[in-house]
Amino acid sequence: MSRKLTTILKSSRSPVGALTSSSLARSPVPRRNQASLSIWICIATCIFIFIIISSTVKMKASMLSVALALAPGAMAWKEVSDCDEIKYTSVPGFFLQDDANTDPNTFDYANFNFGLLNRTYPTDAKFDPRHKKTQWQRFANYVESLNDDCKKNKKDQTTYKVLFMGRHGEGWHNAAETFYGTPAWNCYWAEQNGNSTATWADAELTNNGIAQTTKANAYFKSRFADGLPYFESYYSSPLRRCLQTAQLTFGSLKLPHPFKPTIKELFRESISIHTCDRRSTKTQIHAFAPNFQFEAGFTEDDELWEGAQDKGETSAHQVARSKIVIDDVFSHDDNTWLSITSHSGEIGAILTVLNHRSFSLSTGQIIPVLVKAELVEPTVEPTSTYASFTSEPTCKSPPITSISGQGCVCATATTTFATATITSGCKAH
Ligand SMILES: *[C@@H]1O[C@H](CO)[C@@H](O)[C@H](O)[C@H]1NC(C)=O
Ligand SMILES: *[C@@H]1O[C@H](CO)[C@@H](O)[C@H](O)[C@H]1NC(C)=O
Repeated sequence: MSRKLTTILKSSRSPVGALTSSSLARSPVPRRNQASLSIWICIATCIFIFIIISSTVKMKASMLSVALALAPGAMAWKEVSDCDEIKYTSVPGFFLQDDANTDPNTFDYANFNFGLLNRTYPTDAKFDPRHKKTQWQRFANYVESLNDDCKKNKKDQTTYKVLFMGRHGEGWHNAAETFYGTPAWNCYWAEQNGNSTATWADAELTNNGIAQTTKANAYFKSRFADGLPYFESYYSSPLRRCLQTAQLTFGSLKLPHPFKPTIKELFRESISIHTCDRRSTKTQIHAFAPNFQFEAGFTEDDELWEGAQDKGETSAHQVARSKIVIDDVFSHDDNTWLSITSHSGEIGAILTVLNHRSFSLSTGQIIPVLVKAELVEPTVEPTSTYASFTSEPTCKSPPITSISGQGCVCATATTTFATATITSGCKAH
């Protein structure tokens, strides 16, 4: 059975409306004052989508319920209906990471003040006439002025946030992929819970990964002392390597508010068949990270992982559900400075949602983005369909060969296929 998330009209902030493959490549939309007609279209579409939801019986129930749990509620910065749509822009010109000349493979946040460009802002003259403030203080003041201007506008349809997204430090799954080679990792070893000496199901950090968090801890401490505003909200993936990374990065710092991050299901990594993408139960997570809190509706068991059926999430689905979680944060969190601890594949999907250029992070790396979010008139676009989860080929025993760039050859006749090419894996994510 191949389950599809069918449909979908793009006019709604409802979960199904958001689950579209083309929702990110949208043409300019009509402005609000353009007619009550669009309100009626919006209402009609919401009803239509409701009917689709009710009748799409094959849709994965758990995914739907996760999404529905996130949908209700007014926007944090403005009261709007759930029919509104949020458009994101990564504002260029403030960080090195959005410059095409910055190479993600060699860039290290700790060599460049997190990438914050040395520049002036239109607000400097008033805020810092004697040139006494730091770059971070002047940038923070500028961002505050942007939001003040938004609030002065009666319609209040725009808001700005600064997101610091950190990839977890090296986990045992990363070490194992290096150890076995990517093809053999993907087609066999990643589907195991570990080997005789290491465990990588919901992997924890290696010593190298812990050292990466020590580096981040010291660097944040120095930047906070240099005027980087303290984060007002912290979010984390539910996977243990992220819980550890967030805790070790921030837990020991002297912060103005208690460090109590919120675990959000959809900040997890690409839900592949790998055991490193299957999360622990809520009870186990709570025991592992007692000072973290769970978002409302977080389920006891991992209801999204389908590795037992050899099925993994498609990248179209990942981008769509990343839009859901980013919409959720922007709709319910009024704070400006946010920290998100997640994964390379997931941060990549979020960067897509934010219309930022692709910037892949090595383990322990961190990227800040100044995000502009605007409420835009919903548009009715053609329906689109894509598979949400698809079969991922595996070997049932260690493969005979594993050749980089080619794939691996399974050893036994009990395999689901003869030759596995390189599939997306935890590292590639
Ligand atoms: C800005 O200048 C400081 C001090 O000279 C330097 O350490 C930092 O790397 C510079 N930032 C960028 C993005 O070049
Ligand atoms: C198990 O995998 C780890 C990498 O995660 C590796 O360092 C170790 O040598 C492996 N153990 C065996 C017995 O192959």
